[in-house]
Amino acid sequence: MDNHRQLRPITARDGCRIWIGGREYIDFSSNDYLGLSRALADSESELPQGLPSGATGSRLLAGDYQWTHDLETELAADFGYDRALIFNSGYQLSVGLLPTLVGPSDIVFADRHIHASWIDGCCLSGARLVRFAHNDTVHLKQRLQALRATGKTALIVVESLYSMDGDSPDFMTLLDLKAQFDCRLIVDEAHAIGVMGSQGLGMLGGTPLAASVDFITATFGKALASFGAFVCCAEADYQTLIQNCRSFIFSTALPPSLIFQNHRAYRRMKAADLERVQLARLAHSLRAALATTAYAVMPGTAPIIPVVIGETEATVAIAAALREQGLWCLPITHPTVPQQQARLRLSITAAHSEANCHTLVAALSQLS
Ligand SMILES: Cc1ncc(COP(=O)(O)O)c(C=O)c1O
Repeated sequence: MDNHRQLRPITARDGCRIWIGGREYIDFSSNDYLGLSRALADSESELPQGLPSGATGSRLLAGDYQWTHDLETELAADFGYDRALIFNSGYQLSVGLLPTLVGPSDIVFADRHIHASWIDGCCLSGARLVRFAHNDTVHLKQRLQALRATGKTALIVVESLYSMDGDSPDFMTLLDLKAQFDCRLIVDEAHAIGVMGSQGLGMLGGTPLAASVDFITATFGKALASFGAFVCCAEADYQTLIQNCRSFIFSTALPPSLIFQNHRAYRRMKAADLERVQLARLAHSLRAALATTAYAVMPGTAPIIPVVIGETEATVAIAAALREQGLWCLPITHPTVPQQQARLRLSITAAHSEANCHTLVAALSQLS
C-alpha cells in the first residue's frame, strides 16, 4: 500500500468542490470552515490606490505599514489584550515565540497532540520539553508536581480546538494549574477562530478568561481563508517579541495587499453568524448520521470529525475508495497521529450541504 506523501494540485475550487486531475471531488479535508474562500473571492474589491504589492523589507526595516497596525489594533481590542502582533505564518509564530520566551534553563509542558510547530519552537529554544497525555489535566498536574521546580520559567502550551481530534481542553483546570505552579499559558486557537465563540473569536478571545491567558495565537490561513498569523499578548511581551523574536525580525513582512485582504477577511469572519449556525447544524447532523454506522467517531461538537480506523493501511485504503467515488477525505496517519489511531479527518464547512454529507455517509457505510 502506497502511503508516501504526495502533492496533488487542485486546478479549481468552488466552495466545497475541488477539481484535481480533471476530476471533481467534494472536499472533506479543508480548513475553510466558513466557506469564506469562495465568499471572499466573489466579493473581491479593488485594492486601495498605491498599496504596494510587497512589503520590501522586514517590519523593523522598511516593511512596516499602517495597514498592519490598524489590523493589529482591532485584533487586540477584540481579543481583550494590550497588543496583537502579526506574523508571516502560524509556523513562523510558533518557532519564534517559544525561543523568545524560554531557553535552556526553562521548561515547556505541551499537550501530546500539540501542533508540530510548537515542538519545533521548543527544540529551537533549548528548553526542556515535557509532554502530557492529550487533554489530561490530571497527568499535567503530576508532571508539574514532579518537574516544575527543574525549570526557571515554565510554559504550558495547548490548542483550544485540536486539529486532528476536534476536541478541547478543560480551561478552568488549566488556569488553576497555571496559577498553582506559576506557569505562563499559550493557547493556539488556529482551528477555533471563525468557528467558536462570539463573533468567531475562538474559545477564549473576548471572554473574561482571556485576562488569565498570557498568549492567544491564531492564523488567517484556516477559517479566514487567507494567510498569516497573529499573537495577542501584554504590552511587555509585545516589546520583548519585537526586540528578540528571530522569526519576526529576520523575515520580510507580509505584503500590504495581503494585510488588506486579511483585514477584510477578519471583518467578514466576525459577521459570519449565519455561516457559523449552518456549520454547527451540519456538524451535528453528520455526527448523528455517522453514529448509525459501524465507524468509531471521536465525540464532540466541532466541525472537525475524526473517524478513527486504526491501522494505517486500512485507513489509506478507505480514503482511496472514497476518492474513487469523488469524495476527498485524506487519511491522517502516524506520525501526525499516534500509532494505531490512523483516521479520516472529516472537516465540514458552511459550504457543504446536507446532501454532500448523506453522500459521504452512504459511501462510508458501503465500505464498512
Ligand atoms: C494548530 C495549528 N497551529 C499552527 C499552525 C500553523 O499555521 P500556518 O499554517 O499559518 O503556518 C497550524 C496549521 O497547520 C495548526 O493547525
